Amino acid sequence: MNKEELFQKIGNIVDPDLNLPFNQLGAVKKAEIDGNNVNIELRLIGPLTHAQHTIREAIQKEIGSEFNLNLNFTEIELDRSNREFLKDVKHIIAVSSGKGGVGKSALAGNIAATLTRMGAKVGLLDGDVYGPSQPTMFGLKDARLEAETDSHGKTVAIPVKKEEGLKIASMGFVMNREDAAIVRGPLLAGYFSMLFEQIEWGELDFLVFDLPPGTGDIQLTLVQKIPLSGAVVVTTPQEIALADVRRSISMFKKVNVDILGIVENMSYFSPEDMPDKKYYIFGKDGGKIIAYESGVPLLGQVPLDTEMREANDGGEPVALSGRSPRQVAIIKDTTIEMLKSLRNRNYNNLNNSLEINI
Ligand SMILES: Nc1ncnc2c1ncn2[C@@H]1O[C@H](COP(=O)(O)OP(=O)(O)OP(=O)(O)O)[C@@H](O)[C@H]1O
Ligand SMILES: [Mg+2]
Repeated sequence: MNKEELFQKIGNIVDPDLNLPFNQLGAVKKAEIDGNNVNIELRLIGPLTHAQHTIREAIQKEIGSEFNLNLNFTEIELDRSNREFLKDVKHIIAVSSGKGGVGKSALAGNIAATLTRMGAKVGLLDGDVYGPSQPTMFGLKDARLEAETDSHGKTVAIPVKKEEGLKIASMGFVMNREDAAIVRGPLLAGYFSMLFEQIEWGELDFLVFDLPPGTGDIQLTLVQKIPLSGAVVVTTPQEIALADVRRSISMFKKVNVDILGIVENMSYFSPEDMPDKKYYIFGKDGGKIIAYESGVPLLGQVPLDTEMREANDGGEPVALSGRSPRQVAIIKDTTIEMLKSLRNRNYNNLNNSLEINI
């Protein structure tokens, strides 16, 4: 195999998310052979958190096991220069639902934990003023945001570090639950601007934003204010929850936020002693059908899981502890589908911005 052949081979590999060959994406920046070593550099639109492993395997298969593969990725990022704040955060993802109690916070927390386990730098922003649940989920009920003065003399709030790579900010770290319930109007707006503008996250790959339930003024203001990369809509399979999904989708459309997909939660229950049996307690496939009808991806169908529920109340989400491996695997697959959708969205945005520049 000479250099040209190698270049051809790598260029013909199809990107696992974008379904286009690398040469068409202009991705192969370097492809060299040096004895038994093959050195490759790829430049691709991000996020690449999930894709690197698959791409590495595809290339190794293509060049054969007799070669050592040295593979480097450069991640193309979308322009963030027009952002007012959160400039150091690559991807900002809202987790929302039209209806309360569908498991939005449980999924937001577990998605953030999954991304951390995949090696990303993650922030989790709990935007629920009236019922912040992330402090309970992560066992941080007594934690508080620390105030600091930054190098420009501005007061900033430091998020709570759960572990390396995972930071959390919540209204629950600012005030007591009982006090939160009575906050209204301008005071509320003040708290929100604090949550967005004053928290010093540092550099993050992902910020996962757990939105309060519903599609009212508060939610609309929030999704307009924060520079979202995309939104995930959570629902349960039953009919009454689905009307709210339609409302959520139209809210995001109104403010031009891309929907990355729908997660159907509490899809079924499988008893531990009968893992192949599925009980569709809240109906079957409601989320899947509405995803199809709305033309947005179905990211996953997450079952009811006793351990996940216990973990949510007990301070260590399953995706962090690894307990309930089946549930953890389903949440990981769902997270990967979300990342694939985000990559496609970013690729389309990049192409659009190139067209505008030309
Ligand atoms: N897949 C699941 N299996 C078991 N329990 C779950 C699952 N998803 C969520 N729960 C539990 O259901 C309850 C409601 O979930 P959660 O608080 O995440 O909903 P929410 O949509 O954020 O609610 P709210 O609208 O109040 O913010 C919690 O006790 C949570 O632990
Ligand atoms: Mg919640």
